[in-house]
Amino acid sequence: MARPRWPTTAAGRSPRHRAASRAGAPEHRLGPRCRAPHEERGATVQDQDHRWLRWPTEPARRRIAFGADYNPEQWPPHVWDDDVRAMRAAGLNIVSLGIFSWARIQPGADVWDFTWLDEVMDLLHANSIAVDLATGTASPPHWLTTKHPEILPVDHEGRTVWPGARQHWRPTSPVFREHALRLVRAMAERYGRHPALVAWHVSNEFGCHNAYDYSDAAAAAFRDWLRARYRSTAALNRAWTTAVWSQRYSDWAEILPPRWTGAGSQPNPAQRLDFLRFSSDALREHLRAERDLLRELTPEVPVTTNFMVAASVRAVDYARWAGEVDFVANDHYVVPGPQGLDELSFSANLTGNLAGGRPWFLMEHSTSAVSWQPINVAKRPGELARDSLTHVAHGADAVCFFQWRQSAGGAEKYHSAMVPHAGTDTAVFRAVCELGATLRDLARVAGAHRTPARAAILFDWESWWAAEQDPRPSDRVRYRQEALDWYTAFLDLGIRADVTPLDADWERYDLVVAPLLHMVPGGLAARLTVYAIAGGHVVTTYCSGIVDEHDHVWLGGYPGALCDLLGIRIEEFAPLLDDERAELDNGTTGTVWSDRIDLTDPATEVLARYRTGEQAGRPAVTRRPTGSGSAAYVSTRLGAGGVAAILDELAGRAGVTSELPPELRGAVELAVRGPHRFLINRTDRPVDVSAVAGAATILGPRAVIVVR
Ligand code: GAL
Repeated sequence: MARPRWPTTAAGRSPRHRAASRAGAPEHRLGPRCRAPHEERGATVQDQDHRWLRWPTEPARRRIAFGADYNPEQWPPHVWDDDVRAMRAAGLNIVSLGIFSWARIQPGADVWDFTWLDEVMDLLHANSIAVDLATGTASPPHWLTTKHPEILPVDHEGRTVWPGARQHWRPTSPVFREHALRLVRAMAERYGRHPALVAWHVSNEFGCHNAYDYSDAAAAAFRDWLRARYRSTAALNRAWTTAVWSQRYSDWAEILPPRWTGAGSQPNPAQRLDFLRFSSDALREHLRAERDLLRELTPEVPVTTNFMVAASVRAVDYARWAGEVDFVANDHYVVPGPQGLDELSFSANLTGNLAGGRPWFLMEHSTSAVSWQPINVAKRPGELARDSLTHVAHGADAVCFFQWRQSAGGAEKYHSAMVPHAGTDTAVFRAVCELGATLRDLARVAGAHRTPARAAILFDWESWWAAEQDPRPSDRVRYRQEALDWYTAFLDLGIRADVTPLDADWERYDLVVAPLLHMVPGGLAARLTVYAIAGGHVVTTYCSGIVDEHDHVWLGGYPGALCDLLGIRIEEFAPLLDDERAELDNGTTGTVWSDRIDLTDPATEVLARYRTGEQAGRPAVTRRPTGSGSAAYVSTRLGAGGVAAILDELAGRAGVTSELPPELRGAVELAVRGPHRFLINRTDRPVDVSAVAGAATILGPRAVIVVR
């Protein structure tokens, strides 16, 4: 391997670099060095120092990063010059490079080809475009999988996940780890001092295609993980309730990942839950391995990886990952449908809170259609900017897309990009250029922290996993959808609400909603109770408080852990069939679930009763005052509209009100970053926002404005 060509002194730099740095000031790094990551559950970036991009060769000035995944290896070199010219025209200041370049950089075990990447790095730098450089380990090359098929994941039926797509690697494979770290070392040694480098981008979307591996390597690692968690097989047997169906283990070696047990069988749920936890942790181990090597070799360069805080992705417990990176980065793609924008806002909001309120990086979203949904709909005029700015409203200080130039072939040839197949003389590219100008104007916002709301929705990956795995009273229960419905209800009422991980410091909020809080580990019920007594207002829903962290049912009636706090008791679950509806006396209608509620505390109020169905006349929504706060329970799925009716009352009684004038509530989303208020038009019509933004201000359809 040739030595890197970029020494630290300007005199030795490449001609392109010298030209670019003539006008520049010394390298600038924001923020202090990072401390060691926290090990314990729920460590977030709140707990550690935060490092943002190390912008090169320019004086410190505020700006929002604007860019894309850049895949120049898909194009002949003459296109690269066109690329950077168009990037400059659009105002790009950063690209993520080399994400899927392993096979090109290392075409054989001992063959390296950096010449093309050297050229691209220099070209970008000469054009003042910074690089978030991938470690390149996301997709192993064929020579590696041919020589070492033991790095390929195995699915739960024992089928090998073969090369042919991407991300075909086991996080627990020592062989994969060795080869990946060799590449990381080569990248860091070659480009660690390159002036274009502003951050490391480890791998890509951990767990997107390789979240679960059931191979023998995974089995061995799973056993190690279990041994560290339970110490003895006796403790594991208790936790997994192996007395059921003769599943007792006498030796660690007998334990397997939850592999295929036959059609219609019901595998051990605690084993499956632990496997989900293990799988998230196993991927995190790989992230840590790459990150630690990067920190050793290039301690001054911040490290991130792109999360997938999104509707369809639940394999990674990001509450346990956020503290591992120097700054949080996220990829988000809009889900078409009536709640598409709300879901975007929900994900951005949660990402902002995973980032501890600090700025975060939108690493990928799309300019227009994606190519992996059943029907891939192009974005309508205005949506490109609105979607981007909604992320900024929730704390993003970077707006990046997948990808710069739309591929001409390969798996993603129909996925939109900043430069579409039709070229730069297009509406998409013009919208990109306009967005670049808008982001330049918005530089004043950069660095501002999210301002917490007074209400929060608590989000918990483990409740998501536990509520939706078999066995369950109803497979119609959807954790994230329920949380989203509450979020939509907040938006409809014009009340700002944070979406925050369960382990965050939520006692600061006046009102916390924990929808479908299915898993209540020991200690959480007490924490909620103390919060309520001290004046906090808790709201939870059907299917909550049912199991502890081992998926053991809290005995004594449902909602087990929360019975005392809520002042209610339920003897049997009463899920609804698909065609069943339960009408409530407040005019709303429940689906999916109902409960036969007994009140156990005379102080518990009934806010709504069932009017029809099995539970007619019985309580449907309750609220128990306790201390100077309260605890409310909603026993059926009301959907966003029904939730809004209840939430209006609950928020009002908690003293949490809208910050918007009545005429804007529902039409406009308000998000706040320091002194900056973002108004996001949730409708397809112009909205007069003069009351907030000053005389005669009309917010166009699908538009966003920022006011101080
Ligand atoms: C992401 C991935 C990108 C690209 C994009 C398309 O999941 O990181 O490489 O495939 O999806 O939407």
